[in-house]
Amino acid sequence: MRVSVVGCGYLGAVHAASMAELGHEVVGIDVDERKVAALNEARAPFFEPGFEDLLARTLATGRLRFSTDVADAAGAAVHFVCVGTPQKRGEYAADLRYVQAAVESLLGVLAPGELVVGKSTVPVGTAARLAELVAHKVPGAMLAWNPKFLREGFAVQDTLHPNRLVYGLPADQDRETAERMLDEVYAEIVTRQTPKVVTDYATAEMVKTAANSFLATKISFINAMAELCEATGADVKLLADAIGYDDRIGRKFLNAGLGFGGGCLPKDIRAFMARVGELGADQALTFLREVDNINMRRRIRMVELAREVCDGSLLGKHIAVLGAAFKPDSDDIRDSPALNVAAQLQLQGAVVCVTDPAAVDNARRQWPQLDYAPTAEQAAAGADAVLVLTEWRQYRQLDPVAFGQIVAGKRVLDGRNALDREAWTAAGWTYRAL
Ligand code: UGA
Repeated sequence: MRVSVVGCGYLGAVHAASMAELGHEVVGIDVDERKVAALNEARAPFFEPGFEDLLARTLATGRLRFSTDVADAAGAAVHFVCVGTPQKRGEYAADLRYVQAAVESLLGVLAPGELVVGKSTVPVGTAARLAELVAHKVPGAMLAWNPKFLREGFAVQDTLHPNRLVYGLPADQDRETAERMLDEVYAEIVTRQTPKVVTDYATAEMVKTAANSFLATKISFINAMAELCEATGADVKLLADAIGYDDRIGRKFLNAGLGFGGGCLPKDIRAFMARVGELGADQALTFLREVDNINMRRRIRMVELAREVCDGSLLGKHIAVLGAAFKPDSDDIRDSPALNVAAQLQLQGAVVCVTDPAAVDNARRQWPQLDYAPTAEQAAAGADAVLVLTEWRQYRQLDPVAFGQIVAGKRVLDGRNALDREAWTAAGWTYRAL
């Protein structure tokens, strides 16, 4: 099948290479010339385990190429829209300008019988509006909404082996054709008996936002329990293990700590709130707002904890922050809780040095006022306190005895409940966790 993918960021680039891996002839389109050049040379513009290998392998087959010219999408049977929907500046709502522009750019090349497939996360109601635009401008062309569910760090696996497929389809006579075309493009995945939910646009759009909101809710729930655990001396990790054994609850996404960040969960829950507010669903709005509030309070609590262990004042204290990415195995710093805490500490007079195995360059570009070091040892040299804010394996495996010889004050704050409390305490550290 001939396939085009418009938008070659994190989602689109992985999707394009994955579609080529499934045997399709794929062109990835992006306006960013440097990104397109890098991708054509099999260089990943972002850190994602396994992606560069997949890219090299699929480019070598000749089935995959990247271009800045949307005219190269002409003739594809399926056109995936994979552009970002960031949070609008100063508002909670999603900024849909890139989705709108991507669909409009396709209108010039689209032919009757072709299918536009939205993968971006959008507010409910968007697909119906875009479907009207497509039908009006190119009669006979169709639109489907097929949300993505990939996690950073597992993007290739999640794209090639998704745990479900969701098809939001038109309600009219095009429904069967659109479903058949999606089944064809995902043939290898469909034949593996992957659960498939075939529905309308609104449900498909909502599946995505509801799934991310539920994940966010689990994290905020355990973080609310963590607050109680701090107040009572109870152990939140064991609590999570114990409630997680009930498979109606499940242990996943019950890791208490600094809370959620990244380019998806925070902005998706806020965009959802904005849409829910427009629709007048007050209870859902109150609920989602509290999930977000609990999450943001974790960052403030971390700064308070740092002040507490630094004898009540952060002024002039040297603090090493281990971790800048929003989660391990990623160089993504969008809405990173770690960097947010680092910046707050600095504002309160601390001398902050940040390190991260993958995200220092990105962090430096966005937060140039912070100091950076290439390794944990360099960041922590002479520090009064060490904060572990992203649970990279390298930090979990630090030797507390050797590390204790570098610092000025053996105070460690475990923002992700990732360290071995007993080992650090035995090595003479004051250990505090969220
Ligand atoms: C998230 C969802 O997990 C994916 O299913 C979804 O497809 C994706 O968003 C998306 O919308 O594109 P991702 O942003 O890659 O994926 O990251 P997650 O692994 O969900 O982690 C999000 C944040 O939650 C991280 O900051 C992480 O540290 C935090 N987290 C996660 C916790 O604080 N506790 C946990 O137990 C789990």
